[in-house]
Amino acid sequence: MATVKNRVTKAVFPAAGLGTRFLPATKAQPKEMLPLVDKPIIQYGIEEAISAGVEDIVIVTGRGKNAIEDHFDVSVELETFLESRGKSALAAEVRAISRSLAYVRQGEPLGLGHAVLTARPLVGNEPFAVILADDVIDATPSALAQMIAVSEELDGPVLLVERVPKAQISGYGVIAYEPVREGVYRITDLVEKPEAAAAPSDLAIIGRYVLTPDIFDCLEDEAASVKSGEVQGEIQLTNGLRRLLAQRPIYACEVSGVRHDTGNKLGFLKAVVYFALKRPDLAEPFRQYLDTLPRA
Ligand code: G1P
Repeated sequence: MATVKNRVTKAVFPAAGLGTRFLPATKAQPKEMLPLVDKPIIQYGIEEAISAGVEDIVIVTGRGKNAIEDHFDVSVELETFLESRGKSALAAEVRAISRSLAYVRQGEPLGLGHAVLTARPLVGNEPFAVILADDVIDATPSALAQMIAVSEELDGPVLLVERVPKAQISGYGVIAYEPVREGVYRITDLVEKPEAAAAPSDLAIIGRYVLTPDIFDCLEDEAASVKSGEVQGEIQLTNGLRRLLAQRPIYACEVSGVRHDTGNKLGFLKAVVYFALKRPDLAEPFRQYLDTLPRA
């Protein structure tokens, strides 16, 4: 059985989605590049991965996502310009963004499971993390670091979960579970986007996964079932995990921290306000401004 005991050093960022919820803003720029104050959404996830010890990052992209690659490239012109204007601190910040990332194209948008499978040649036979950058989590230690600690302790895959109100549960993968200890669960079943009445619990899967490479064969099997018509719809990661659950224990954990779902407009706006209010240079004037707003 593939172990997690050797460190998790790779992370996969599925980023091929079309971002239709944010049209027209996403007509010519990837949704992952929308800024929360002044930092693109995906950069929060990348920084989280790096702070959790990840060294190799794979971004699964598609058409129209070049801005992500440009963002993480070295920009000598921009750095030189900033230095020449005496803005060394900003130049250093821009330089720090530049990283050596690997990109793989998903080609067809066949689902989250397919996106993860697309990264297989770059991940190889090692444990790895999957980060859905839409879910921006402010936590110390980071959500991924907390999850990696649990996965190393229990030596198995770990999904991040959060309690979600019944009215929203059908937007998530949902687990059935047995408690291991406070905030840690052994998954007994998982189902993708169930009707509220059929949801096995109120613990929803949030966009962080620590996985073992045996998930890839499960996703191949799931892809074959979708192709043959035996399974309808997209190649779901949740369904691949369900297959993996037949072979090994899978765990889930809640983490302490604040999660923003920036994949919808209200969540995005909340995240902008939240991070603006955490900024020493903006917090006070911004709060003063918010206080002046009339209630509708
Ligand atoms: C995906 C997963 C789902 C999970 C969710 C978390 O769904 O398929 O199981 O709960 O991410 O954000 P999506 O939001 O891509 O539809």
